[in-house]
Amino acid sequence: MLSLLLVVLASVVAIEGQDVDYAQFVNPFIGSEGAIPGYAYGGGDIFIGGAVPFGMVKLGLDTYEEPLNQSALNGGWTPQGHVTGISLMHESGTGGGAKYGFPSQMPLASLEGVNLLDNLTYWQDRVGDDVASVGYFKTEFESGVQVELSASRHAGLYHYTYPSRDGKHVLVDFSHYLPHPTRSWDSQFYTGGEIEIQPNSSTYTGYTSIANGWCLGPPVTVYVCGEFDTPPDEARAFKGKNTFPVGRHFRSYNNATTPEPTYTGSSARSGPQSDRVGAIFSWNGADGTAEIKSRVGISFMSIDKACAYKNEELSWSIEETAQAARAEWNRDVFSKIRVDTSEKANKTRLALLYSSLYFMHLIPSERVGENPLWESDEPYWDDFYTMWDLFRNQVSLWHLIQPTYYESMLRALIDMYKHEGFLPDGRSGNYNGLVQGGSNADNVLADAYMKGLRGGINWTEGYAAVKKNAEVLPFFDQNPVDPQGSLKEGRSALDDWLPLGYVSADRNSRAVSKTVEYSLNDFAVSQIAKGEAPGDQELYLRRSAGWQLSWDPEATSRGFSGFVMPRYANGTFHKTYNITNCGDCNWEDESYEGTAFEYSFVIPHDVSRMIALMGGPQHFESRLDYVFQPNTSGVDLGANGLGITTINNIANEPDFQTPYLYNYLNKQWKSVERSRQLASDFYFNTSNGIPGNSDAGALNCWLVWQMLGLYPVVTTPVYLLESPWFEDINVTVNHDRTLRIRAEGLDDGEGRQGYYVQSVRLNGQEWDRNWFEHEDVGGIMVNGGEILFRLGGEQKVWETGDVPPSPGHRVVDIGGG
Ligand SMILES: *[C@@H]1O[C@H](CO)[C@@H](O)[C@H](O)[C@H]1NC(C)=O
Ligand SMILES: *[C@@H]1O[C@H](CO)[C@@H](O)[C@H](O)[C@H]1NC(C)=O
Ligand SMILES: *[C@@H]1O[C@H](CO)[C@@H](O)[C@H](O)[C@H]1NC(C)=O
Ligand SMILES: *[C@@H]1O[C@H](CO)[C@@H](O)[C@H](O)[C@H]1NC(C)=O
Ligand SMILES: *[C@@H]1O[C@H](CO)[C@@H](O)[C@H](O)[C@H]1NC(C)=O
Ligand SMILES: *[C@@H]1O[C@H](CO)[C@@H](O)[C@H](O)[C@H]1NC(C)=O
Ligand SMILES: *[C@@H]1O[C@H](CO)[C@@H](O)[C@H](O)[C@H]1NC(C)=O
Ligand SMILES: *[C@@H]1O[C@H](CO)[C@@H](O)[C@H](O)[C@H]1NC(C)=O
Ligand SMILES: *[C@@H]1O[C@H](CO)[C@@H](O)[C@H](O)[C@H]1NC(C)=O
Ligand SMILES: *[C@@H]1O[C@H](CO)[C@@H](O)[C@H](O)[C@H]1NC(C)=O
Ligand SMILES: *[C@@H]1O[C@H](CO)[C@@H](O)[C@H](O)[C@H]1NC(C)=O
Repeated sequence: MLSLLLVVLASVVAIEGQDVDYAQFVNPFIGSEGAIPGYAYGGGDIFIGGAVPFGMVKLGLDTYEEPLNQSALNGGWTPQGHVTGISLMHESGTGGGAKYGFPSQMPLASLEGVNLLDNLTYWQDRVGDDVASVGYFKTEFESGVQVELSASRHAGLYHYTYPSRDGKHVLVDFSHYLPHPTRSWDSQFYTGGEIEIQPNSSTYTGYTSIANGWCLGPPVTVYVCGEFDTPPDEARAFKGKNTFPVGRHFRSYNNATTPEPTYTGSSARSGPQSDRVGAIFSWNGADGTAEIKSRVGISFMSIDKACAYKNEELSWSIEETAQAARAEWNRDVFSKIRVDTSEKANKTRLALLYSSLYFMHLIPSERVGENPLWESDEPYWDDFYTMWDLFRNQVSLWHLIQPTYYESMLRALIDMYKHEGFLPDGRSGNYNGLVQGGSNADNVLADAYMKGLRGGINWTEGYAAVKKNAEVLPFFDQNPVDPQGSLKEGRSALDDWLPLGYVSADRNSRAVSKTVEYSLNDFAVSQIAKGEAPGDQELYLRRSAGWQLSWDPEATSRGFSGFVMPRYANGTFHKTYNITNCGDCNWEDESYEGTAFEYSFVIPHDVSRMIALMGGPQHFESRLDYVFQPNTSGVDLGANGLGITTINNIANEPDFQTPYLYNYLNKQWKSVERSRQLASDFYFNTSNGIPGNSDAGALNCWLVWQMLGLYPVVTTPVYLLESPWFEDINVTVNHDRTLRIRAEGLDDGEGRQGYYVQSVRLNGQEWDRNWFEHEDVGGIMVNGGEILFRLGGEQKVWETGDVPPSPGHRVVDIGGG
């Protein structure tokens, strides 16, 4: 009876939360600029525009910003870029070669001097400041055209207001996409399309196919169904020679000057040489309106589906559409974490919290019913970009606050393995790639499994999927950035890992980081094996200690000894390897996006052995202290670390957990001090308020955990206790339960330091450990409950219980260690 009552109360609270318009606190521009104001480079690479949570459609501007070395076109929007189109599909927060930016429209106030095949003749600068809020975007072009945008899940609404009634045109360019002007091998290119204008001219249908981009995928074909609210006075389809500089095999002429279009009546198709196709719609003003609206639906399956989405999901009202999107964000995302929003609340914190939640729900894209590749009753998702980013802590938050979406994602991942042979590490455009280190979907599945997620997931297949990663060398995919191994999927260095137990530096690239990641991957496999194939558990636990084989106890740097180092197949180490400087730290280097100094801390499954190998708790603590000292970094972090000078690079995923490692010494107050300092040094409610690419929201999610006062230890059911930023937080977990996090005595405004933990109570029980498990105290993360932090100014060692567990603990005798 009591528990029933609690459930009822919990859902009442959840409904109350939905009445608050949390969306008002979201600043959609956080991460839109880098260190140099006005330029995107080094910023978050974020999408800005109209979208619903995990929406297939993300409607926003595509721009071209110069100079290119200060630009990043990945999210479409740049601060000062010329607008070349307004398209329906985007990524958010990603690096690498741009993906998507199609299908597009472009409103033109005049056709004078315009060559429809040459964006330089019509692109537009913007005047004034762009306006964006959750589900809504507005800008004005120098031509005087005002553009408003909003979106539903599979369709977008454009609302154009022209400066004059008799100059109204909309260009539909099916050959438009986000280019990668400085690099051709992973730039997208157009491979063909078809457009047809319906007899009454107010609708157009067709498809466009765009290939390559970041993961070097095959063409992505998108069916399009667009409609204007006012029948145009003239509608002409056109085609023209494909002269784009990349996609050599798909274009008709080499370096001809940009050709002029040929008008082809009411339809155009590419034909064998991938001609560019599009249409131009014109209104002469006879109807007396300066406004034109357009609804566009897209589908990966058919034109009919695209049309149905457009008709069923959208009205013609931008206000109504934006309001519906905002309501969905409030209901399905923001109200899952409720804090005080009254007058006395710190509004900067509300901006940081709700904006962070916003950015961690833009990708992946939910494409249930939109899988063009195979027939299946399982759900389908795309744009996992990438697991390397997401596994660290983002999936763990989705697990709690998005259980329906999250289960759907996991089922989709397993279905990809079933039909394509491998889980993706990254995936976009219906294609797996790029693997940066290990097969990190293993970590994702293990995290869910260990926290008891079952639902509609077939774990027999889930286990088979991770076991395949652990056992089967993927085929060699010839990616130009890595001559040695496959980047598409799986673990390309299994040929070392299986016989040697580590990844060697002479037979493989990225030996240090791959060894570290494969170790955690095999630990993840062992975690699922525990329940699904107990006979395998020991094997994978043993392999998860492989990082110790790559540990050189004699390696010394900055007065510290013992590091994971590049080791050759013959067993010797690369003794002269620079421990604080990984060079470009890229695909062909010995360590990827992190130095040996950093990766030596990234052993979450066996922190206890790591501490021992670093010389015991005292040495470990001073080494940990050291990596947070300013001006210690030996690397120029560039776009991956805005202004960071410490060895620890909180702006990039490998180091996300490092500041919390003091918990393993029962000095939790130091974790709190460090992590709070990092959060307040690098996260702001400003355009450059995030330290580098947001990475699909991974950086934003790091901040959400920080504000909750918790940190998940991925692949295990453990959460570390830290220090919350709000006095009272209600989190909706497991669909409809409430986890309440209270911070009694919190006093941390304007330089005050009343945020150290004095004691903790879990569900009314005094708690002497600085960590707990998912199902502790009556299943606190499953059934809800209360975590009470008592905070104060004293840097107190309050935890007297066991340190957090090292469930993958193994001792490999490496001599000298
Ligand atoms: C503009 O068009 C040219 C070819 O005409 C193409 O190479 C370039 O990528 C386009 N730029 C943008 C930003 O779309
Ligand atoms: C970017 O390129 C310009 C020349 O176009 C050059 O002057 C500038 O130094 C470059 N900036 C960086 C950060 O490379
Ligand atoms: C135009 O034609 C299309 C397809 O035949 C139809 O769906 C649409 O309703 C028509 N629109 C108007 C304004 O008549
Ligand atoms: C093609 O362009 C290159 C570089 O701009 C130029 O050297 C060459 O003469 C051009 N070839 C033709 C056939 O126009
Ligand atoms: C959290 O939930 C409790 C119990 O319903 C309620 O008393 C409290 O006001 C809520 N706090 C917030 C910030 O929503
Ligand atoms: C956050 O930044 C946005 C954009 O500059 C601004 O409109 C908003 O007022 C800021 N919020 C707070 C609390 O400062
Ligand atoms: C799970 O998958 C396995 C292997 O494909 C299959 O044999 C089994 O029937 C499935 N279990 C359920 C409950 O569907
Ligand atoms: C081991 O291999 C490395 C890399 O190929 C080589 O430089 C080194 O000389 C070898 N050492 C021995 C003892 O064979
Ligand atoms: C770090 O280096 C910068 C630039 O050389 C210097 O201004 C700053 O004082 C240094 N900080 C510390 C803590 O040494
Ligand atoms: C390692 O790189 C750092 C930073 O570039 C440099 O200062 C240091 O001298 C290098 N150390 C060795 C041993 O080469
Ligand atoms: C509000 O929060 C911000 C970000 O944590 C902090 O910098 C500021 O000092 C706080 N303001 C007050 C008045 O507490």
